[in-house]
Amino acid sequence: MIEELKSKSKSIGVVGLGYVGLPIALEFARKFRVVGFDINAERVELMKQSVDPSEELERSDFEGCDIKFTSDPIDLQECTFIVVAVPTPIDKHYQPDLKPLLGASRAVGRILKKGDIIVFESTVYPGCTEEDCLPVLEEESGLIGGKDFKIGYSPERINPGDKEHTLTRITKVTSGMDEESGELIAEVYGSIITAGIFKASSIKVAEAAKVIENTQRDLNIALMNELSIIFDRLDVNTYEVLEAAGTKWNFLNFKPGLVGGHCIGVDPYYLTYKAQAEGIIPKVILSGRNINDGMGAYVAKRTIQKLVSNGTDISKARILILGTTFKENVSDIRNSKVVDVVEELKSFSIDVEVIDPSANSQEVKEEYGYELTTEPSGEYDAIILAVIHEEFLNSGLEKYERHLKESGFFIDIKGAFTSKKEKSNYWSL
Ligand SMILES: NC(=O)c1ccc[n+]([C@@H]2O[C@H](COP(=O)([O-])OP(=O)(O)OC[C@H]3O[C@@H](n4cnc5c(N)ncnc54)[C@H](O)[C@@H]3O)[C@@H](O)[C@H]2O)c1
Repeated sequence: MIEELKSKSKSIGVVGLGYVGLPIALEFARKFRVVGFDINAERVELMKQSVDPSEELERSDFEGCDIKFTSDPIDLQECTFIVVAVPTPIDKHYQPDLKPLLGASRAVGRILKKGDIIVFESTVYPGCTEEDCLPVLEEESGLIGGKDFKIGYSPERINPGDKEHTLTRITKVTSGMDEESGELIAEVYGSIITAGIFKASSIKVAEAAKVIENTQRDLNIALMNELSIIFDRLDVNTYEVLEAAGTKWNFLNFKPGLVGGHCIGVDPYYLTYKAQAEGIIPKVILSGRNINDGMGAYVAKRTIQKLVSNGTDISKARILILGTTFKENVSDIRNSKVVDVVEELKSFSIDVEVIDPSANSQEVKEEYGYELTTEPSGEYDAIILAVIHEEFLNSGLEKYERHLKESGFFIDIKGAFTSKKEKSNYWSL
């Protein structure tokens, strides 16, 4: 297969061109012929003009790529190696929503031919690729998995906004449904990943490895969040404690904060869903999720307590929040936990303004129902630095701080300005 791909007599297909799919499609397209398929025609039009709708890649990243962008799944017919990288969100009941994944499997199943290999990259629970996706591929194609075509799983580990740990520089875990497909999949990915390939022993192992990477992160942050609640009550500065404890060689470097986005705050629910389906109640994982999901409301509550303590009339209070994306230096607002802070404050009838130069105001309005403010105005009783975008750091903050009342509070959720901690009107997690 690799020879057919190299000679471009056959193509690689990538289904779902978001944060994960587009970089992989472009990287493959430097060596092979690629068909990039996405159901969102608007996004496809932008990519045709060398624009990444997720704003992670530059125009130059499209240069020298042999790729056809399309929103018609029929175009995948010429592909023999197809990568699926569609979203795997959760629904409002915190259950896995497999609709995009099964929809993509159906589309691929319809164009599937004997000898093809399908590799799933979407984050799922152990067993999902073989138990949920494979039957759909078989049903739609009338072919038999393992005999007529093969499947594999290769999780993605990129970190939006991180310019250092990019696709080719991260060891890629690959797996196949049998030895032959495992080798082939490793070979194809190995041709673009300079950091090397780790061949997992099975698809389930690779699926489980991905989901626990983010579950471990989620739990470590949950521990820091719980510690920060305890230390706040004890009137001890969490960052001073972490700095002191961090001098031990095996103390892990995690910080408290809001856990948003569609990975760390979502993936653990895939694992807990599967565990519960097997009759196991994952107490530790769910407990961590519970703590992290409650941090937005906690920050709002502590802000209000601070304001009340200095005699602020809450009914007339004005609060400015800086940042609304799910993390720093990205434009992605999906599953941002800043909205929890906003809603909790608004439930006390507090006048809340949100500024985020990285976010799209229209998207924020559609998703969360509030509009972004472009410039600070008048005086605020508190400023909450929620997302530490580059532009809010150092001198970037002065522009906003000038609008903070003399007695106002600076709430620094992630402790970016701990140098200000001596001031009585500073608070951080
Ligand atoms: N974003 C990350 O940093 C990251 C990191 C590692 C793993 N993941 C996982 O990778 C997967 C993809 O995440 P993402 O961040 O790239 O998502 P995304 O939302 O950025 O992009 C997904 C793309 O898939 C398209 N799509 C949806 N349904 C489709 C379908 N049926 N057919 C074709 N296209 C379809 C959407 O239009 C969108 O362009 C998820 O499982 C996610 O958990 C994401």
